[in-house]
Amino acid sequence: MKIPLFLAAAAFGCTASAATPAEWRSKIIYQVLTDRFARADNSTTAGCDASARQYCGGSYQGIINQLDYIQGMGFTAIWISPITYNLEGDTGVGEAYHGYWQQDLYRLNENFGTAEELKALSTALHDRDMYLMVDVVTNHNGWAGNYTTVDYSKFNPFNSQDDYHSYCEITNYDDQDNVEDCWLGDSNVELVDLKTESSTVSSGYNSWIKELVSNYSIDGLRIDTAKHVDKSFWPDFNTAAGVFCTGEVFDGDPAYTCPYQEVLDSVLNYPIYYPLTRTFTSSSGSISDLASEINTVKSTCKDSTLLGTFSENHDVTRFASLTSDLSQARNVMTFTLLHDGVPILYQGQEQHYAGTSDPDNRAAIWLSGYNTSSPLYRLAASVNQIRNHAMYVDADYLTYMNYPIYNDTNTLALRKGYDGMQVITVLSNLGAGGAAYTLNLGSTGWNNGTQVVEVLTCTTLTTASDGTVPVAMQSGLPRVLYPKDKLSESGICGL
Ligand code: NOJ
Repeated sequence: MKIPLFLAAAAFGCTASAATPAEWRSKIIYQVLTDRFARADNSTTAGCDASARQYCGGSYQGIINQLDYIQGMGFTAIWISPITYNLEGDTGVGEAYHGYWQQDLYRLNENFGTAEELKALSTALHDRDMYLMVDVVTNHNGWAGNYTTVDYSKFNPFNSQDDYHSYCEITNYDDQDNVEDCWLGDSNVELVDLKTESSTVSSGYNSWIKELVSNYSIDGLRIDTAKHVDKSFWPDFNTAAGVFCTGEVFDGDPAYTCPYQEVLDSVLNYPIYYPLTRTFTSSSGSISDLASEINTVKSTCKDSTLLGTFSENHDVTRFASLTSDLSQARNVMTFTLLHDGVPILYQGQEQHYAGTSDPDNRAAIWLSGYNTSSPLYRLAASVNQIRNHAMYVDADYLTYMNYPIYNDTNTLALRKGYDGMQVITVLSNLGAGGAAYTLNLGSTGWNNGTQVVEVLTCTTLTTASDGTVPVAMQSGLPRVLYPKDKLSESGICGL
């Protein structure tokens, strides 16, 4: 049995800081919107009206208190929302509870806790061998009011108007200069656009990020609005950070999004997000579109095994608001956690939260009571367990690219891994009303007579003499297959 390098490092007492892309590839991220995840008082009843867009009291101490809940699902990292000081007070579009309206890089947003509490969160994670990813913003600062009212002296450290692009509104997403040089936001809150191509600004950001990563022992960064910043800014920033960086390039076209992986370690996999959610929202969703996008992303991005794979986040409509069908939600979650890249589950997905877009997709998690018996909490735990096990059995599992081995109108089977140690995922978009049938699945790579376990039902199947595995499909549920002889002492399905 090969022991992955990162486990060997942990055994020799190395710290979890300065985590590399390869180390992050082995992680599974739970995305936390700090203000909405957990309160220090452990309340599960404190009111939080998401539509009001106000602070609701979530904090670093709250997250520390709920790490068992996160780790109980098998997550090995968290991504928290931005930590820096934001504009204060209520604007026409609410308060800065999400953290994206930064004003001072060198001060924390104390609504979430003190520097000591943030450090304590970092330590608590590292004590559990988990990583801390922090969301950072370099594209803009936030200003409450329209562009004519901006007082640049209120920003730190970029307190001169020369550090910013002059005002213009983004009007044409096909014009990259317009996207990079003009401003996001509106007259309620302007997102005052930094001149990241200026050496003063870029060197200021590089010193800041180096210090921030070191001060809070941060292991990785999620980079906000990456496509709104000139590409030439990123390589030095990524180097200065010294840790894994995944950029938010909010665009579903691999031809647009993948090139950002030439300047950053990783990007969020928006190209897969769109066909993924479309495919499983209804039984008429196109399975073949998803299968073909999987292959396109693999051939277009520099390294698809480092992309952030997700199906929900705080900016997009929650899957459960597209379909309330639990089987379809199970399929989307199973794909998200077992596909190539670093899987990311957004808080609340495990409780089948159904908020639509911002701000309804940001409901407080404490109101779920942190139910560890909910169907999707349990599914996440089972699926993460098999991923964590497969990468332990085979150090090459994570870099072996998932590929479609079968698809029909409603079924997609994917294989990741080789040499008998592959995980095969069989997905369906039929929903809970889907009829029962047996899929005799070929191209599995397993020899005749191999015993494989369907780990979500703990059923053992045997490869037939024609090489196929008889997979019992029912009620639109996903199936995950793994060889029985590689499960010994895993604790999975009692083995
Ligand atoms: C993308 C973030 O994820 C979103 O929530 C935020 O409002 C914008 N960038 C602007 O920072």
